[in-house]
Amino acid sequence: MAPPALLDALPGHGPAVLARAPGRVNLIGEHTDYNGLPVLPIAIDRDVRVAARRRDDQRVDLANVDPAFAPRHYLLGPQPAPSPPGDWANYHKAAAGALVAELARRGAGGLPGGSFRVDGRVPAAAGLASSSALLVACGLAHLGLAGVELPRSDLADLFARAERYVGTLSGGMDQAAALLARAGEALRIDFFPLRTRPVPIPAEAAFIVAHSLERAEKSGAARGHYNQRVTECALACAVLARRLGCAAAHLGDLAGPEPILADLDDLLPEETTRAALPALTGIAGAELGQRFFPAATALACPDRFRLRARVRHVLSEAARVTAAEAALHARDLRALGTLMDASHRSCADDYGVSTSALDRLVELARAGGALGARLTGAGFGGAIVALVERGSVERVLQMLDREFYVPRAAPRDARLVVRPAAGASLERLDR
Ligand code: GLA
Repeated sequence: MAPPALLDALPGHGPAVLARAPGRVNLIGEHTDYNGLPVLPIAIDRDVRVAARRRDDQRVDLANVDPAFAPRHYLLGPQPAPSPPGDWANYHKAAAGALVAELARRGAGGLPGGSFRVDGRVPAAAGLASSSALLVACGLAHLGLAGVELPRSDLADLFARAERYVGTLSGGMDQAAALLARAGEALRIDFFPLRTRPVPIPAEAAFIVAHSLERAEKSGAARGHYNQRVTECALACAVLARRLGCAAAHLGDLAGPEPILADLDDLLPEETTRAALPALTGIAGAELGQRFFPAATALACPDRFRLRARVRHVLSEAARVTAAEAALHARDLRALGTLMDASHRSCADDYGVSTSALDRLVELARAGGALGARLTGAGFGGAIVALVERGSVERVLQMLDREFYVPRAAPRDARLVVRPAAGASLERLDR
């Protein structure tokens, strides 16, 4: 049910809608989604709620219960001008812009203006996909105002593409988890085209999310690093496709990861420069620029690209996802824990997305009795997820508190025990 304050704060009278969309914790499969390879997240019992009521014009009014997010308003259109980077209104604009275009494409009418009240309960900049939860909840509420229903998997695709409006080349995991997850289950998600299947979570498994106290803002400092990894993978894919004589849009399109992994040293240089790319890829400079370096994409290091280690991570991580799915079906939590540990090492050593605080949290969780632990989400700060047997939760929390949080005077909610929750919902309320 809606917190009454959220609905009561809506201007006007008459029917309203209430949407909620959860954050997610990715159990394994990091930086695989945009490569067309699988992920295995759970949606969590922390969500973003959005109450909305229709307006008679094209204006969108946004207000947030958290005073850190000041009210915003703008006029609807297919390409609303973005607010400054990092502004929370951009997530609403991203969803609404995509919906205006999609409804027009389907001949399903227009999108009305509306008043929106937002209550975000997913910890922000923590690697828990709070921004995607905000975008999905705003989009669902807005679609509710239009009185249109679209299939959930279409929405997951649409909102994944829409989120690139904020300047990050993100994949489709977060929006799919927010829309399609089921309570008590993890979701294996495959991409291009989007496919999902539920994976049961044994009742004795518990998940602790522990924040590194370093903010990982997808539309902020982490953006250039994230885009760098996406670009490195796309370049590595072009080099591999040429060497192997096949066509591949994503690393996931290359047949047989095992032979590629075995021959990686011969197939790919450890790193390369922008100047060396035409010879390596066989793609001329102008086309390279268009395909891999659009002007709007901020890169952390636009002239130097690591290829071999990035591919080693991505292909080995995809194999770990499949193994993790099998471990969950077999209720083998130890095996899952071992895979999570290996994933963390690969994220840290080959993909370069961990930090010393994340590494320390992983170590402490393991020392406290977790079966496995790894950074979750994009990395560059944010949080870890630890797999813990129910009976060991207190012990792991005590270890994290004593060695990490108490010395840093961290807030108590820096670490959470999360439960696998259901995906987004929409209610219509007559008031
Ligand atoms: C972010 C992106 C996702 C995914 C992860 C890394 O959360 O939004 O699409 O790429 O990073 O696995």
